[in-house]
Amino acid sequence: MLLEYPVKWNDYELIDSGDFEKLERFGGYYLIRPEPKALWGRTLSTKEWMNMAHTRFTTGAGFGSSGKEDSGTWHMLKKMDEQWVIAYNRAEFSFKLRLGLTAFKHVGVFPEQAPNWDYIYAKTREVGNANPGSKPKILNLFAYTGAASLAANCGGGDVTHLDSVKQVVNWARVNMEISKLDNIRWVIEDALKFVKREARRGNIYQGIILDPPAYGHGPDGERWKLDELLFELLREVASILAPKDSYVVLNLYSNGYSAVLADTLIKTAFRLNGTAKKGDGSDKKSFELTYGELVLQDKFEKALPLSVFTRLKR
Ligand SMILES: C[S@@+](CC[C@H](N)C(=O)[O-])C[C@H]1O[C@@H](n2cnc3c(N)ncnc32)[C@H](O)[C@@H]1O
Repeated sequence: MLLEYPVKWNDYELIDSGDFEKLERFGGYYLIRPEPKALWGRTLSTKEWMNMAHTRFTTGAGFGSSGKEDSGTWHMLKKMDEQWVIAYNRAEFSFKLRLGLTAFKHVGVFPEQAPNWDYIYAKTREVGNANPGSKPKILNLFAYTGAASLAANCGGGDVTHLDSVKQVVNWARVNMEISKLDNIRWVIEDALKFVKREARRGNIYQGIILDPPAYGHGPDGERWKLDELLFELLREVASILAPKDSYVVLNLYSNGYSAVLADTLIKTAFRLNGTAKKGDGSDKKSFELTYGELVLQDKFEKALPLSVFTRLKR
């Protein structure tokens, strides 16, 4: 079981956490956002937080309030732009992300995902190097504003970015453009429907990334419910992943699922555990499977676990 943290990142830091909130810096701006997992007390005082912050999001009242979890209002404490850009710079690759204050406490990036981006970049390169002459095909499902798509693109992948919401796909396109990258294929569709069609057509990918929410909708009203449909989706994903020189990254935020659960799901969907029948072609030695938690640590060494992941490389 791995615990992974973003490595030093100039444009992002978790300053403090506690009392069900977190204080973060995104580029030059300090934001206070709700954090249901911050069960402990703040280290800095509330006054210090308020002096530092440009804006604070509170749930419930105001714009975006529709009784839905996470909707609420940004209270401006200092002058700031409603949209701004941060960079993710690593020794081997970099991209930019435009951020913005949305009605649902999100700003367009999940910073704890950075270790997944590093993995996606590295494995896209690796599977590409294994088959020189053609770019590895990478599919990013539930792809949101596209950081994972950009990491795969930087790694030399021929990327298909899929999300059911047109506005976030447009946002991802802006992120590609400001990063001076190109050639990402944009798909606005229901993830399960798309993967089933790819399976019927026999289209194969070398990398598949998925970060599904608890609930969602396809553009034609298709209902996504994680606990009911995830295993079915993973079985379909298994049928369109190349048997060799390929990888999968599954990330889960929702329902309090554990890393072991994510691992069992992948093992079972890909027939890598005792569910494999002898002679069905599965080879237990030809894959690497890692699982763990993605964690942000504040400046006072309080570790905040935010999601779980499983990664399969074969
Ligand atoms: C938790 S976000 C993923 C975050 C992203 N992987 C990242 O780290 O930046 C979930 C995304 O799934 C999309 N979504 C919800 N239901 C969907 C569906 N049925 N098919 C495709 N995308 C869906 C949402 O629009 C949203 O952008």
